[in-house]
Amino acid sequence: MNDLPNISEPHLDLPTLEKLQPKKHATHAPRILLLYGSLRPQSYSRLLTLEAERLLQRFGAETRVFDPAGLPMVDSVTPDHPKVRELRELSNWSEGQVWCSPERHGNMTGVFKTQIDWLPLEIGALRPTQGRTLAVMQVCGGSQSFNAVNALRVLGRWMRMITIPNQSSVAKAYTEFDEHGRMKPSSYYDRLTDVMEELIKFTLLTRDSADYLTSRYSERKELG
Ligand SMILES: Cc1cc2nc3c(=O)[nH]c(=O)nc-3n(C[C@H](O)[C@H](O)[C@H](O)COP(=O)(O)O)c2cc1C
Repeated sequence: MNDLPNISEPHLDLPTLEKLQPKKHATHAPRILLLYGSLRPQSYSRLLTLEAERLLQRFGAETRVFDPAGLPMVDSVTPDHPKVRELRELSNWSEGQVWCSPERHGNMTGVFKTQIDWLPLEIGALRPTQGRTLAVMQVCGGSQSFNAVNALRVLGRWMRMITIPNQSSVAKAYTEFDEHGRMKPSSYYDRLTDVMEELIKFTLLTRDSADYLTSRYSERKELG
């Protein structure tokens, strides 16, 4: 006996093509939140994040950078802590995000992960990450590797984000910035520019459709 539902039944909440068509086209500046994963005063992941922010602003985006200093370990305080509230409000506000972690022991840092650990998939009707675009980046101390960006991609999937194909991994990051904290011209800088351009394109293409992209049959069914 096959007890799968008959998918031609009209009462099943399966959308028709008409319902699937995106309708609105927003024209405001894309809202991008940038997160980084280090508390060091001379942090290269922070410098890379700020370089990405300059490019995003040049492309016409509105940007915010969250400072992770003072963010408590997850669940060590209640979510009304000012840093937790700030992070959640910024994530709700965003239409796209940039995540930039140092690679540490072949993975993202705890400082980075703690920020995502404070972001629930849902707070009431609000979904702070779902359906938003995401660009992943990392800085390396030694030769180029991709362990942190790979881990960030998995995390982006878990947070149900649209992670763009391109990414940035800057090897020997300590050699790539000048005394003013600006990135030196290099193929890494060109790649960073490519990644930010791609993030803006994906954000413009998908931001009006975030709700319908994240609407799932199995969840609608559960809600009844
Ligand atoms: C304990 C420790 C482990 C590290 N592990 C790695 C690693 O696995 N791969 C790597 O490329 N760099 C590694 N590094 C180097 C850091 O990624 C590098 O110093 C980076 O610039 C730190 O980020 P920040 O400048 O934003 O603080 C490690 C550094 C420390 C202190």
